[in-house]
Amino acid sequence: MAKFHCGIDFGTTNSSAALSCDGAVRVLELDPLNDNPASLPSLLYITNEGEQIVGRAAADAFIDRNVDREVQLKQVDLGVAIEAYVGGEPDKSETYRPAAAPTDVREGVRARATIEVNSPGRLFQSLKTQLRHTAFRGTEVFGTLYQIEELVACILRRVKAAVEEAAGAPVERVVFGRPVRFSTHDAENDVAQRRLETAARLAGFSEVTFFYEPVGACVEYALGIEQRQRLMVVDIGGGTCDVCVMEFGGARGAAARLAESRILGISGVPVAGDAIDREIIKSKLFPVFGSRVRYGPSRLRIPQYIFNEILDWQNLYKLNTEEIVHWFLAMEADCTAPGSVRALRMLIQRNYGYPVAREVESAKKRLSWEDEAEIRLHMDTVDIQERLEREEFTHIIEYNLERMMRSIEEAEAAAQVRPKDIDLVLTTGGTSLIPAIRHMLAERFGADRLLPRDTFTSVATGLATVAQYC
Ligand SMILES: Nc1ncnc2c1ncn2[C@@H]1O[C@H](COP(=O)(O)OP(=O)(O)OP(=O)(O)O)[C@@H](O)[C@H]1O
Ligand SMILES: [Mg+2]
Repeated sequence: MAKFHCGIDFGTTNSSAALSCDGAVRVLELDPLNDNPASLPSLLYITNEGEQIVGRAAADAFIDRNVDREVQLKQVDLGVAIEAYVGGEPDKSETYRPAAAPTDVREGVRARATIEVNSPGRLFQSLKTQLRHTAFRGTEVFGTLYQIEELVACILRRVKAAVEEAAGAPVERVVFGRPVRFSTHDAENDVAQRRLETAARLAGFSEVTFFYEPVGACVEYALGIEQRQRLMVVDIGGGTCDVCVMEFGGARGAAARLAESRILGISGVPVAGDAIDREIIKSKLFPVFGSRVRYGPSRLRIPQYIFNEILDWQNLYKLNTEEIVHWFLAMEADCTAPGSVRALRMLIQRNYGYPVAREVESAKKRLSWEDEAEIRLHMDTVDIQERLEREEFTHIIEYNLERMMRSIEEAEAAAQVRPKDIDLVLTTGGTSLIPAIRHMLAERFGADRLLPRDTFTSVATGLATVAQYC
């Protein structure tokens, strides 16, 4: 019976998988509903009845059921008492020692939480980014505690089912990709990989090996070329920008080429498509939602934390409390731009955070092919029509581009090479399509040395290839 080897690229935005057998590699169809069926959007929607919906259907279910719905919150007693300090005047004496036990009176208070009472379901996006957050262990979804590993496993189970259907047999061994750095902190990196491994085991894989994602993309190209080459890969996706420099000898045959390949240097930063979307929202949409508004007799500004929640639309509903809504209504009666405050209120009350984020992402993608794009959304009193020109976009994301460039320099330094020593720069990942990024790479390496590989599947193909030999 044919022996299949499996590679899985669990991405921040999209996941893909490939199978190799006797030297031939095949990318699998994971989501027939997606524009690109080889790419499964890494989205999970859990309904209030516990049904788990994955991929494009998850986004559709959320838009269909959650958007345009009046959110109702209620305070619940968690049934536990926590200690509270009834603070007196701060101790300003010279004998004050911060480590000493506080002398304030301690009291017990009942712990309470704000929950949504009528939610039909919850959507999870960019779960890979959450893997590194040690403080985020999991979340309660309609009374069931889902640990982060379990949430990721829900997506991986779907991938495993597609892999086994294509192989026609159970597949338990897998090579997974991982970014060079999930996080800039080493401890968070280790936690993230351990969690991803646990998620893979929960999904039913018993033997999990990890390879750096850009190394996967490099192998995908290099094993088919019988030539001595020094290659760089720049893989910029939704969550991370990953770079590697590898050297391949002139051996013939995939196994021999892989055996004599060397990783000369790697680097990575957690800056990619999601961070770029946030920059667009900050610069183009914060003003639409009142960041410049002054309200009340003292002409105050709307506090920054409200806008930070817009960047994290999954938690936006938490602002939908009676207290905050009344505050917005009062603000609308006495402020410099009532329309903007009303738009902000409707964004929160009608749950428009996700459609806004999707429209921003879609405009960003259009800008890769067009000189200008319009961010357009007309829902209720949320009326957005903002033109974004490519030049302005490049300016908005300048700092992100700098961080990516520093990562490239870091990989070169680790490999002890200069740009002229690199034969080819392979590019992959959705964000590598941005013209400003292509321009930045062309300036450093020359346009003739840039070689785009398949944007969404080159990593998985390389991982499945590697899986044959490990
Ligand atoms: N044409 C395009 N122009 C600009 N950005 C794009 C384009 N197409 C996709 N993207 C962006 O690319 C990102 C998704 O790319 P990709 O699928 O390679 O990421 P990923 O593999 O899921 O993430 P990561 O590797 O960081 O975990 C998203 O941020 C998306 O908005
Ligand atoms: Mg990727």
